[in-house]
Amino acid sequence: MSLKQEIARRKTFGIISHPDAGKTTLTEKLLLFGGAIQTAGAVKSNKIKKTTVSDFMEIEKQRGISVATSVMAFEYKDLKINILDTPGHQDFAEDTYRTLTAVDSAIVVIDVAKGVETQTEKLVNVCRMRSTPIIVFINKLDREGKDPIDLLDEVEQKLGLRVCPLSWPVGQGGTFKGVYSMYEKNLVLFRPHGKQEEEDIIEINDLADPTLEKHIGERAANTLRDEVHMVQEVYPAFDQAAYQRGELSPVFFGSAVNNFGVREMLDCFTDIAPTPLPRETEERIVLPEEEKFSGFVFKIHANIDPRHRDRIAFLRICSGKFERNTNYLHVRNARQMRFANPTSFMASKKEVIDDAYPGDVVGLYDSGNFKIGDTLTEGEVLHFKGIPSFSPEQFRYVENADPLKSKQLAKGLDQLMDEGVAQLFTKEINGRKIIGTVGALQFEVIQYRLQHEYGASCSYEPVNLYKACWIKCSDDKAFQEFRSRRSKDLAKDKDGQLVFLAESAWALKMAQEAHPAVEFRFTSEE
Ligand code: G4P
Repeated sequence: MSLKQEIARRKTFGIISHPDAGKTTLTEKLLLFGGAIQTAGAVKSNKIKKTTVSDFMEIEKQRGISVATSVMAFEYKDLKINILDTPGHQDFAEDTYRTLTAVDSAIVVIDVAKGVETQTEKLVNVCRMRSTPIIVFINKLDREGKDPIDLLDEVEQKLGLRVCPLSWPVGQGGTFKGVYSMYEKNLVLFRPHGKQEEEDIIEINDLADPTLEKHIGERAANTLRDEVHMVQEVYPAFDQAAYQRGELSPVFFGSAVNNFGVREMLDCFTDIAPTPLPRETEERIVLPEEEKFSGFVFKIHANIDPRHRDRIAFLRICSGKFERNTNYLHVRNARQMRFANPTSFMASKKEVIDDAYPGDVVGLYDSGNFKIGDTLTEGEVLHFKGIPSFSPEQFRYVENADPLKSKQLAKGLDQLMDEGVAQLFTKEINGRKIIGTVGALQFEVIQYRLQHEYGASCSYEPVNLYKACWIKCSDDKAFQEFRSRRSKDLAKDKDGQLVFLAESAWALKMAQEAHPAVEFRFTSEE
């Protein structure tokens, strides 16, 4: 198969949701369709239900390096579909954010009863920043939930997405009878537990067709006609180009646990979702069909078992063909590297691969050479954009608790930050170090890992901060004034970029008003 054909058959996406909305269940059903797994329950949830460090550590230990569920690939209708897993625990959102930089599209799962929840909002924001095309799946229609129209309003308002329903539910909870697909023009009758038969799919090109009554009764048929009519008046018609530009989001309704509405969404996804997209670098735009290979590291998973200290770096292929045992340039280190055992992930299996194509993700065994955002190429110096750091939400001063181990502490912190576990800021005024994370549990995880993997110990002290903002300013004079007036709030991130540490939303607003020429950004890159 030619490079072009390989690219044309690939779709790489992430499923995002608030914990418990049904991401794991949906992933599993998709893998069942693709034949990548044979039985339900084969996908282990990556979520951590309890929030103690020991639970987290136990799960991480079990996952170890065989973190097979990080990328799940399956074949469906001659396509190769890569699902990148986005860890579901709210404390680990930064890892999730970063995974979204490696996808070409996303599916957002929303619980019909709970509606749009906080984590979904944050994750969709990241997608919106990058104009990632989004499909929305409203899940758990077998339960009572919100009115579908209200829910669509909520999706538009809270997530800022322009929606276009491509299926519509007939009732919900106890009265749930099925969905009408405006995309396929058929009615699919609901059967619990995935017991769908062919005769449950009834072609109805025109909703005025009286066979509708036969299947769902007069009342439900009339309600469906009214609602679909209204939906078609209110919402824009489906437009694939607008979807691919990230400007219009198709919406599907279903029940993942009952495997209902999932095939319809998958079939639409395979029709409309983008194949691997061009990627911006600081130097130029890289097209997937370029002959020469390039890719970037978006995630590093450390094996926290001290007996096996290796790490695995996840590389997204952006152009050309990646080959095993071939020399590639590690751009940041200006060094050639070759990989004897690059790994692919097929649901629960992982295997050594000989080659990989744009859209694929390969796992590279790493002894500490990689950082998030690193680029590999055939020789060209490229730096992929769009793999920013995101402002943490929790901050603490970190102090060395064992003066004899300061080297170990520095090394441990450095490596954990390279993995993207948290962010380290050094205050300009006094050199004090501040760790920023998305969730509170991460502080304990860092402490534990420093101790167990590096023999270093740290303690924390509270610091009252709201956000870290990366600073940009093209007006030299205004910048100098800002630097001198705000020196006590300034720090450097680990790449030496200047960051303003805002104590509160109000303090940030005041600083913005006082320094209008300065840009305050919540990510390290726009
Ligand atoms: P997550 O990965 O987004 O965190 O969610 P997950 O798939 O683990 O689903 C969370 C819970 O919601 C699970 O129940 C799952 O069975 C249930 N669920 C998923 N889809 C549907 C659906 O369409 N309808 C209904 N009624 N429930 C659904 P659990 O009790 O937390 O776990 P389990 O013991 O069933 O695994």
